[in-house]
Amino acid sequence: MTRFYGLLSICLFLLSVSCTQKEPAKPIRSGEIWPDNQGVHINAHGGGMLYHEGTYYWYGENKSDSTSKAMVGIMCYSSKNLTDWKNEGAVLPVELNDTTSDIIQGCIMERPKVIYNEKTKKFVMWFHLELKDKGYAAARSAVAVSDLPTGPFQYLRSGRINPGILPFDITADQRNILDTLQLEHFKEWWTPAWYEAIDKGLFLKRDLEGGQMARDMQLFVDDDGKAYHIYSSEDNLTLHIAELSEDYLSHTGKYVRLAPAGHNEAPAIFKKDGIYWMITSGCTGWDPNEARMFSAPSIWGPWTKHPNPCIGPNSELTFGGQSTFVLNIPSKKNAYMFMADIWRPKKPSDARYIWLPIQFKDGIPYIEWMDSWTLDFFNE
Ligand code: DGJ
Repeated sequence: MTRFYGLLSICLFLLSVSCTQKEPAKPIRSGEIWPDNQGVHINAHGGGMLYHEGTYYWYGENKSDSTSKAMVGIMCYSSKNLTDWKNEGAVLPVELNDTTSDIIQGCIMERPKVIYNEKTKKFVMWFHLELKDKGYAAARSAVAVSDLPTGPFQYLRSGRINPGILPFDITADQRNILDTLQLEHFKEWWTPAWYEAIDKGLFLKRDLEGGQMARDMQLFVDDDGKAYHIYSSEDNLTLHIAELSEDYLSHTGKYVRLAPAGHNEAPAIFKKDGIYWMITSGCTGWDPNEARMFSAPSIWGPWTKHPNPCIGPNSELTFGGQSTFVLNIPSKKNAYMFMADIWRPKKPSDARYIWLPIQFKDGIPYIEWMDSWTLDFFNE
């Protein structure tokens, strides 16, 4: 009998140890195939992450084997640990029949981001939309909404941004210069005079009436619940930061220009110790280029340019990738993860992901390549 109770207590002890022991963190290997719960490479490119009630939701573009056009729609994957991902399917599918729909199959849907609105309890998705067979000319922003993070998202509308409205911080002098700029005087692109005119707002003025262009984009919710839309505007030459309405479904008209004529794409933003950090790329299509970084004490600026945050071999090409998001990992202290895409335009579905920890030296972020790392890299 005593032997029986002895064995029983050993069994109970072992059981309690195994229950309290955490599963070891799994490695993150950038550039490799990342299988989902069905063993299929995750298809969520140009993506972003939302953490909601203990689960991470990863939204991104579904890419097919032969084209970067939207054949399926916006995908969602969910995970508790950032390494095991369940395919939740196309949460905003393309429209298959209604040819008048903005999101008819064959359009371009890029860089979707989803944020949660605490007041309305809705999940709001914005993405870059190009109309079918119009190349990249439309440069529209589209919005969709859902009651659940896993959709279905209801498509609302698309358009250019803030028609008829100038940046709120434009000075009287800048306004006077803008009034003198004439498109017909700058027919030749890329000359010093043309750059100067772009800097002063030549394309801002060109698009004033119909609304500003928006291609690569990001969303950011600040500590006070206000949300911002950050996008490559003015033919990808100048970034804009625009405030969203309280329900996050439209723009308030308040916006600023960032790095005019600087040619920035792929903005990814995070906030640490009251400082806003933005990592961007240059504009070289699907080819990688050198990342850029900016910081500001307020979302409205002034924004200061820093050197490339990537260091070490291949850092001049962002390790072969292009920024898409920075995730602030809520369960860890000062844990910020840089997310980027390695595009594969010849077989878009084979595009890969780069996830690397953001490290800090004297408060300045930097990123170095790691073949393999785990989330234990960050302190609890
Ligand atoms: C680079 C952008 O960052 C991508 O999202 C995509 O728009 C490609 N350009 C298209 O060439």
